[in-house]
Amino acid sequence: MNKANNSELAIETRGLVKRFAEDIVAVDRVDLSVPTNTVYALLGPNGAGKTTTISILTTLIKSTNGSAKTAGFDVVTQADEVRRRIGVTFQEMVLDEELTGRQVLDYHGRLYGQSKVQRKAKIAELLALVELEEAADRRCSTYSGGMKRRLELARGLMTNPEVLFLDEPTLGLDPQNRASIWAYIRDLKEKQGLTLLLTTHYMEEAEEMADTVGIIDHGKIVAEGTPRDLIDQMGADTIRVTGSDGETSFTEKLRSLEFVQTVHTGDGVIQIGVDSGNHRLAEVVTLANENSYTISDISVTKPSLGDVFLKYTGRELRDK
Ligand SMILES: Nc1ncnc2c1ncn2[C@@H]1O[C@H](COP(=O)(O)OP(=O)(O)OP(=O)(O)O)[C@@H](O)[C@H]1O
Ligand SMILES: [Mg+2]
Repeated sequence: MNKANNSELAIETRGLVKRFAEDIVAVDRVDLSVPTNTVYALLGPNGAGKTTTISILTTLIKSTNGSAKTAGFDVVTQADEVRRRIGVTFQEMVLDEELTGRQVLDYHGRLYGQSKVQRKAKIAELLALVELEEAADRRCSTYSGGMKRRLELARGLMTNPEVLFLDEPTLGLDPQNRASIWAYIRDLKEKQGLTLLLTTHYMEEAEEMADTVGIIDHGKIVAEGTPRDLIDQMGADTIRVTGSDGETSFTEKLRSLEFVQTVHTGDGVIQIGVDSGNHRLAEVVTLANENSYTISDISVTKPSLGDVFLKYTGRELRDK
């Protein structure tokens, strides 16, 4: 694959804005710099602007303001160059249900000018990857949701993209399927220098796969870093408490304690960053009692990316 313009950034945006209406700013001055051959995970609650960002970067919609380059090319003035170098798998599926899985892939390869021989080999490889060999000659209309998603992913990979955009690629897949797809993508990244921008609701995937995580909320990147760095900023351990009554005075007192590093509240959960969770549990319970805060659940966890997400957005990533 030719590398574009010898640029070292596979994705670069400056002051990117997308406004759908006066009061709907879906993307709000986003600056992204994603180095070639890395994985960037965009995490954010529903409506945060993830799909809109991907749509701009893949030339499907135009930004209102700011600039964006994908694979080294401007997404507006060099849209054709961009399209030639990317693969996309969308959250909302766009399969032609009348076609068989094999036809979907074959058609896509033809669209990109692949020879018959190239297509045949690639299709066989991808059908095996997403475990659709047996269903390959059935119409997509007979596929389950998970099968359709796997076919979408195979289609995104059909053209050997330099930059692959995956919007919720593994939503609704079982863990085994997810694992095999990630293994394949990791392999592509290593062998072909692939760059990946993904969104996911699975924190473990982001934590494991991403070189860099960007947390987006209300169209703004509110935190960015390696999973490790983001997690380390959270403090050593987290005591998570749910309960009722007296929350204000309880959290106020917590903040004044020396061993308490951070206190975050949201969704009825109080997250307390402490030096050593197991060691401090009893003190937290005592303090709750003193402030008439009734604990319904309490647990100690090592911080995870999910905790980072809650800290910055005040919400759990998963809706359910
Ligand atoms: N075509 C459109 N017209 C008007 N508003 C839109 C349009 N597309 C998206 N929006 C709005 O822009 C905001 C961002 O939407 P977007 O789809 O990018 O969010 P998202 O982060 O992908 O959310 P989800 O996790 O639910 O997929 C939302 O407020 C959404 O309602
Ligand atoms: Mg979306």
